[in-house]
Amino acid sequence: MFEHLKEQPADKILALMQAFKDDPREDKIDLGVGVYKDADGKTPIMRAIKKAEKQLWEEETTKAYTGLAGDPLFGERMAALVLGDAVPAGKVAKVATPGGTGAVRQAFDLIRMANPEARVFVSDPTWPNHLSILKHMDIPFTTYRYFDGVTGGVDFDGMMEDLAQVRKGDVVLLHGCCHNPTGANLNISEWQAVADLLNKQGAVPMIDIAYQGFGDGLDDDAAATRLIAAHCPETLIAASCSKNFGIYRERTGCLMAVAHEEGRHKLNQDTLAYLNRQNYSFPPDHGARLVLMVLGDDALRTDWQAELEDVRLGMLKLREQLAGELRDLSGSDRFGFLAQHRGMFSRLGVGPDKVEALREKHGIYMVGDSRMNIAGLNAETIPKLARAIIDVGC
Ligand code: LMR
Repeated sequence: MFEHLKEQPADKILALMQAFKDDPREDKIDLGVGVYKDADGKTPIMRAIKKAEKQLWEEETTKAYTGLAGDPLFGERMAALVLGDAVPAGKVAKVATPGGTGAVRQAFDLIRMANPEARVFVSDPTWPNHLSILKHMDIPFTTYRYFDGVTGGVDFDGMMEDLAQVRKGDVVLLHGCCHNPTGANLNISEWQAVADLLNKQGAVPMIDIAYQGFGDGLDDDAAATRLIAAHCPETLIAASCSKNFGIYRERTGCLMAVAHEEGRHKLNQDTLAYLNRQNYSFPPDHGARLVLMVLGDDALRTDWQAELEDVRLGMLKLREQLAGELRDLSGSDRFGFLAQHRGMFSRLGVGPDKVEALREKHGIYMVGDSRMNIAGLNAETIPKLARAIIDVGC
């Protein structure tokens, strides 16, 4: 049997992590994988998470199974975090999943089950693993224009033109905030236009929200998801707790299926639980429990929000510093978009030859499409990166 296995394409982001580890240069800079790092290059455990873990260790009396959907309280608190009061709670089916990726995978499974004819429209570019999972599952997909390489912003006209091609029942995958990999995002009136178009075409939005709190704040970052979920008859939402709770390895995510039509909720909830059972039975609980504790306790929540806000503001400052350094060195504002972008990433908008030159000559590691993890920078490395960008002729 094993002789029939074939090599699978390496994941670009994970391959880059390995290449960085293997590089012996002391002054190398890692702007690859989307993991938050502080000014010392560390990925700290957030204070509230550490406190919740301690409390959990003292109070938890069993490790028996939870339910197929995970602890329902986790789902409720996640739905409140992401959706606020935009949608009545009774219209949102939800399950815990292993990370945001687990939620994405389960959403694709549900789409295939509900409508095998559905095509999934993804932004060009999108997180490479969206494409990889879709290919692996043999789900038909196509791309819509998204990034404007000239302005570093969203090609909104191109996007709307392409989305006008969606058919009834197709699914459109959208990044709720902090677009990965570009960092370029729609404004709220553009989101409204997308919701109107999808409703006109009869398409279903699927929102991947993995960076809530990293862009403009917890509520502002959820505004687009709330708008879509309130205006579209059906919405799928894959939320990750990896980044905003800093619990990457705990694999904590939540899949939500919003349905406004009466009578849809029970079947949706049962189907999400069924899909969990087929793929891994009970979802992991440790990270989900920490999240529900933090969200449900005033003191923990306040501390978590304060720390998350510091992280967000720190990244914004790094963006501004980098854009300012490049303005001084290039004598132009052509890198100004870096300060406009939001979230952990920015796409520099240069070809693979320049990305390669930055790696070879300067030990700077960014993803091949020129995606940089802004959190990988600090006050010391910003001038070095800016000089290198100019040096390789970006
Ligand atoms: C990323 O985009 O770098 C992160 O979401 C990590 C991953 O799994 O790719």
